[in-house]
Amino acid sequence: MAGSGYVRADPARCSSRPPRSALPPPLWNHNIHYHSLVLSTVPDGCQRGLDVGCGEGALARDLRQVVPHVVAIDCDEPVVGRARQADGGAGVEYVTGDFLTYGFPPASFDVIVSVAALHHMQPAAALRRMRQLLRPGGTLAVVGLARSRPRDLPADVAGVIAHRVLLRGKSYQQVNAPTIWPPPQTYAQIRDIAAQELPGVRYRRHLLWRYSFTWTKPATPPATPPGRTTPTPSPGRRRHFIGNVRFSAPICPNCAHINHEKSRVEGNGRR
Ligand SMILES: C[S@@+](CC[C@H](N)C(=O)[O-])C[C@H]1O[C@@H](n2cnc3c(N)ncnc32)[C@H](O)[C@@H]1O
Repeated sequence: MAGSGYVRADPARCSSRPPRSALPPPLWNHNIHYHSLVLSTVPDGCQRGLDVGCGEGALARDLRQVVPHVVAIDCDEPVVGRARQADGGAGVEYVTGDFLTYGFPPASFDVIVSVAALHHMQPAAALRRMRQLLRPGGTLAVVGLARSRPRDLPADVAGVIAHRVLLRGKSYQQVNAPTIWPPPQTYAQIRDIAAQELPGVRYRRHLLWRYSFTWTKPATPPATPPGRTTPTPSPGRRRHFIGNVRFSAPICPNCAHINHEKSRVEGNGRR
């Protein structure tokens, strides 16, 4: 603005930030890429979060930006040591232990997250444990790896292209934690297991060789445990048990007594 007395600001001089070209490229890999997806599931007002199979703790530290108390568990002692060193004041509580058996109290977390760790564990048992540790109304976000089958080839090829495009301008960060390859379950198998253990779960397949589950624990538990159905006896019959064996038998329409002679086995267990 000639003659106005104003001098045009020079952004390179004014800003305390180094010029863009001097910044190191952001670290990126196929797990880090999905941190934003995981964080987008965190409901407002969450107080306590858990990262399962935290590795060096990058996701737990991201979670700590939005959740006041974050616990990160991993069974590998050296990796937990590196996570503690990398914490840099983020304030995550790191724990060494097996998630499946560690003594967290039931319903003690508002949000549970996990990236690239489920295939290291017995998945049904791990999802059951997550369900147990989540408070009613809490959310679960899992990003995982599964084994491809020939019919997954088009998605895998799309992944190669996406990898090349998304890596541009970033620096690839190797995962410095125990890994398992190939994952024991296929995409279809892990999807079935999740549907069994987490009724109503949202499953998605992603480009970079990952799937995700997101699930909110119902505020009131379902009448029957997930994955089980209670067979209804046909009209005019009543269910009864002898030991753990389930029978159904006709009932007398007048006195409502069970006719044991015509009783038939329905199955095992008091479902
Ligand atoms: C592939 S690494 C992923 C690490 C990290 N989440 C990431 O995104 O980079 C899987 C991690 O799960 C941990 N892990 C495997 N089984 C576990 C279990 N039962 N309890 C706790 N951590 C487990 C391993 O030690 C390993 O650090």
